[in-house]
Amino acid sequence: MSHEHAPASPVTSRPGTPLKGRIRVPGDKSISHRSMIFGLLSIGETRVQGLLEGEDVLRTAEVCRALGAVITREGPGRWRIVGVGIGGLNAPAGTLDFGNAGTGARLMMGVAGSHPITSTFDGDASLRKRPMRRILDPLVKMGVSVVSEAEGGRVPLTLRGPRETIPITYETPAASAQIKSAVLLAGLNAPGRTTVIEREATRDHTERMLRLFGAKVEVKPHGKDGRAITLQGQPDLRGTTVVVPTDPSSAAFPLVAALITPGSDVVIEAVMMNPLRIGLITTLLEMGASIERLSEREEGGETVADLRVRASRLTGVTVPAARAPAMIDEYPILAVAAAFATGTTRMQGLHELRVKESDRLAAVAAGLAAAGAEHEIDGDDLIVHGLSGKVRGGATSVATHLDHRIAMAFLIMGLASEAPMTVDDGAMIATSFPSFIPLMRELGAAIGG
Ligand code: S3P
Repeated sequence: MSHEHAPASPVTSRPGTPLKGRIRVPGDKSISHRSMIFGLLSIGETRVQGLLEGEDVLRTAEVCRALGAVITREGPGRWRIVGVGIGGLNAPAGTLDFGNAGTGARLMMGVAGSHPITSTFDGDASLRKRPMRRILDPLVKMGVSVVSEAEGGRVPLTLRGPRETIPITYETPAASAQIKSAVLLAGLNAPGRTTVIEREATRDHTERMLRLFGAKVEVKPHGKDGRAITLQGQPDLRGTTVVVPTDPSSAAFPLVAALITPGSDVVIEAVMMNPLRIGLITTLLEMGASIERLSEREEGGETVADLRVRASRLTGVTVPAARAPAMIDEYPILAVAAAFATGTTRMQGLHELRVKESDRLAAVAAGLAAAGAEHEIDGDDLIVHGLSGKVRGGATSVATHLDHRIAMAFLIMGLASEAPMTVDDGAMIATSFPSFIPLMRELGAAIGG
């Protein structure tokens, strides 16, 4: 049963004791999706360790099976994928249902759309609202036909791939790793060179994994903050071993919880420190957070560090728009931190937040209002006036709009506010961080249904 038809399951968090202990959050969602997809597109066997077994990734795995991969779970987080190779996808028998997973759907449009098959994409009520034109536009240039689409370029939509995909040079219209990745993945099945230009660098997991699986990729700086990524098409991707580092976007929740809950002292182990993912940590350090990076080392081709986080007095800052790609999923939890800070935090250039799992700008504003936290939206900026640790908390429940990060952010708020916080539905947390509640409880948090 999908969540939209299941009865909502409200969850409440309560202020309580300081948070203490050591935890490790699950594998990175972006890399987990890509592990499945690269496994499908490779010849031979791919073994994945530390896969995030969240609902979004499991949907992508199901779709990879429908396209021909043989996928088996060998133990917790350990998966084996036998791929079909580039050009070898099966025509799927039914609709490819991505549930809540925007990353899975968009990346797979590049994969399936570049093959001479017909594939239909669909998802839940949240995914059905999200814009797909940004993916369809470059794919059409590559020869893909959009057979049908819901109004405004949304799912459900059906693609038919060309006999031969056309390699292109494409400048992405938004700072989006999903657009970049969809074009590069389509470029895998095109003869010749496909180039994606991005004006602002976004997460680079696709580029790194293309290389890991044996593709030739060149990355050059472009302008002040951008990159040009060129892929040589039709490589032989070879199955390999992927060790998935932990997800900094999940670590963000216990991290902020420890900062705002007085007396807390927590270690979050082996957090991935990819520079294109840690804008939140940069921002929190500027706000005066006590976050120590301990035991830096390599895991799965990325630098990881144990983060020791202690409760801190935070001060409001201005977060420049240029930092958004490195912390795009972290604004809801930053807004929570900002509500506890002293002074005003201005988060600039948040237009992309309007097209996430929910309109996150509106959902964050409504959650802040429910908790009595002062804020304004000024164009694409979110301004939060900090209450120096004294957030009232909520009598009314926060509407999560099928958005896992809205649910988690406001549950974290309730650990340090004066009154408990309730979110209307905690079910979506399982899409990205199924162990969120048990891990937070391990630290001493009072969170429950
Ligand atoms: C992701 C890219 C980001 C991010 C999403 C995961 C990815 O989306 O919000 O959670 O894995 O490529 P956009 O590309 O739309 O910014």
